[in-house]
Amino acid sequence: MATSTRRPVIAGNWKMHLTVAESVSLAAEIQNRCARFRDVDVIVAPTALAVYAVAKRLADGPVAVAAQHCHGADSGAFTGEISPPLIAAAGARYGIVGHSERRQLFGETDAGVAGKARALFDHGLTPIICVGESLAERDAGQTLVVVERQVKAALEPFAATEVPRLILAYEPIWAIGTGRTATPAQAQDVHGAVRALVARLAGPEAAAALRIQYGGSVKPDNIRALMEQPDIDGALVGGASLTADSFARIVARGEEP
Ligand code: PGA
Repeated sequence: MATSTRRPVIAGNWKMHLTVAESVSLAAEIQNRCARFRDVDVIVAPTALAVYAVAKRLADGPVAVAAQHCHGADSGAFTGEISPPLIAAAGARYGIVGHSERRQLFGETDAGVAGKARALFDHGLTPIICVGESLAERDAGQTLVVVERQVKAALEPFAATEVPRLILAYEPIWAIGTGRTATPAQAQDVHGAVRALVARLAGPEAAAALRIQYGGSVKPDNIRALMEQPDIDGALVGGASLTADSFARIVARGEEP
């Protein structure tokens, strides 16, 4: 395990999967399987339709709920969108912003992501801000240029004292849903660079406290090696979060779940 004092945080991003009933049932099973792991924050991110029902089902337990997406405004004529105050009122405590699928498929920009992160934060929700490079950008040697640009933009609206209450997720796009995980060393390189950048932007104390998740084909059999890296504080898990067994084994990080 990483030797830092940062509390590990493992989140399951269910993307556009599972009905409301299936979501509630998976959440309950995850709660059962994960409740005994007290040294880790566990989060599930169902579809927007299921956030309320899942949060209600999990209300008395340690597993928290995240929205996968939000609009930056509190309310208004934005057909199809959901806002941070609505997400908070539905019982979620976190919000994912800037996932690469949102950036690539739905035109989200660095500035838009920053505005949404700020809006979530202002409503008492913890933003999980995703950053990451494409394969073409990695092959062109642009990984750190891209990731640092995304991190810098995302932190822009935040005071240094607020930064420890954010979560960043480094998700190389070429590792998402592909079965091709970044090696622990590749991930650590970027996590270390991101933490160094945060130290320059917000100071060493904020950088030391900020949690940075890795995401991209995280599985029960690779979580331990990833978590052993000094700057990897958790995981944002897609495919392997869709069954309670594999997600619980990831939360267990190499222990018996
Ligand atoms: P994956 O997705 O674990 O299925 O690669 C990760 C993510 O998109 O957050």
